Amino acid sequence: MAYNLHNRSLLSLVHHSERDLLYLIDLARDLKRAKYSGAVRRSLEGKNIALIFEKTSTRTRCAFEVAAHDEGAHVTYIDPTSSQIGHKESMKDTARVLGRMYDAIEYRGAGQDIVEELAAYAGVPVFNGLTDEFHPTQMLADVLTMTEHCAKPLHEIAYAYVGDGRNNMANSLLLTGAKLGMDVRIGAPRDLWPAEEHVTLCREFADRSGARMLVTDDPEEAVAGVDFIHTDVWVSMGEPIESWGERIDELMPFQVNSELIAAARNPRVRFMHCLPAFHNSETTVGAQIAAQYPALKNGIEVTDDVFESPVNIAFEQAENRMHTIKAVLVSALG
Ligand code: CP
Ligand code: NVA
Repeated sequence: MAYNLHNRSLLSLVHHSERDLLYLIDLARDLKRAKYSGAVRRSLEGKNIALIFEKTSTRTRCAFEVAAHDEGAHVTYIDPTSSQIGHKESMKDTARVLGRMYDAIEYRGAGQDIVEELAAYAGVPVFNGLTDEFHPTQMLADVLTMTEHCAKPLHEIAYAYVGDGRNNMANSLLLTGAKLGMDVRIGAPRDLWPAEEHVTLCREFADRSGARMLVTDDPEEAVAGVDFIHTDVWVSMGEPIESWGERIDELMPFQVNSELIAAARNPRVRFMHCLPAFHNSETTVGAQIAAQYPALKNGIEVTDDVFESPVNIAFEQAENRMHTIKAVLVSALG
């Protein structure tokens, strides 16, 4: 029987093999070409997918909806306030209800334990659309984007993530690079390094895949010679607003600005960001931060000149959310 991921959940990528990830990325590439050439197969006709969002989203929600619609599936969007989840009904009970109506469930929320519980009781595939710990669907888009923008074989590609090294993006980028045998670096202040337990787990994967892993508090060491520099917001969804002051003080040396891009010493280096990004003061939060810290009016984790330059491939990365999420849906349900 052909290789397949039928009925598989996507919770963290910890339990996906290198082969599983490459299969999904390959399928995403095919589905992207099919969409571009008008050859979409509608392989999910008659399927129903529940989308639970306990945190806000633009890309992940839209990617799931468009991917499902393209393939002929129907979705139900459940927002943070309009269901009984949590306040009147446990996740275990919700899982047993939704599992009887839907063919698959996407979940975005806080703890990884919540999405794991949902998957344990739903009886249908569950896809993690972001938790505090992991952002697995984003990883598929990030790897697809890196392969599209670098001619090297995957295991020769080097990338750095600089910023809050403990968040879902840092954890997931370290794990993904370790699984795929890539050269992956995390640049962050020591107290924002990924948890020791996570680093140990990633090192075990790296030992098997041949990945090179570096966790450093030196931003220039992190980016030296890389093909891609990733960053993310300095304060994630669900973290207290008061975290901003302390994070700004700590993370300023890790801001992606033209000096850090130059420190890669690679004329072909590209900038990546899962988005949304604070690259100017034209958002409510960006304006609030700029009012308190005028030095950040032209960007917080990334400066506007870098963001608006050809080095930035974050919008290609955003588009790839849709093609890769489509691959997850088609592989599990198609
Ligand atoms: N990158 C990402 O997950 O974006 P959203 O929060 O808009 O879904
Ligand atoms: N680390 C960010 C990612 C957003 C896509 C957050 O959790 O808010």
